[in-house]
Amino acid sequence: MSIAVYPGSFDPVTYGHLDIIERSAKVFDKLIIAVLVNSEKVPLFTVEEKLDMIREETKHLKNVEVTFFSGLLVDFAKEQNADVSVRGLRAVTDFEYELQIAQINRQLNKELDTMFFTTSIEYAYVSSTIVKEIASYGGDVSSMVPSYVEDCLRKKFARQEA
Ligand code: PNS
Repeated sequence: MSIAVYPGSFDPVTYGHLDIIERSAKVFDKLIIAVLVNSEKVPLFTVEEKLDMIREETKHLKNVEVTFFSGLLVDFAKEQNADVSVRGLRAVTDFEYELQIAQINRQLNKELDTMFFTTSIEYAYVSSTIVKEIASYGGDVSSMVPSYVEDCLRKKFARQEA
């Protein structure tokens, strides 16, 4: 059975991530979406909120599991019997960082390979950071995130203003 893990911050999940999830779920028997906790970055959403949004948007995919991890990805992947890490590449600018992570992970565990999916062109400009910035000013992010995530963003920023 081929098991892959798709790790990330997912703060919040975007159409770019969902595109990678849909496509990689067709390639592996099981895809584990793993939300990183304890990152140095201060997230907008809690882990529970991130998991809820991802679960809502992937509930139609029967071979997808959504969970969280802390510590090293290689350790989590081993626990889950996953031998592939899935990552998306939007542009050349992602490549250097992604190559470094992939090389480090292989250095830490030769059994973990990284497979890259090229993001569909219509989402090449989408990032969680940009989505949060636009949403924080009340801008329209409907082409970048599903309506459920848009609602979560609206509520989050409304609460912050209150
Ligand atoms: O969505 P992101 O923030 O680009 O994801 C980065 C992520 C989660 C893939 C990376 O930070 C990670 O795997 N962190 C876990 C700690 C780890 O294993 N570090 C060594 C490789 S960088």
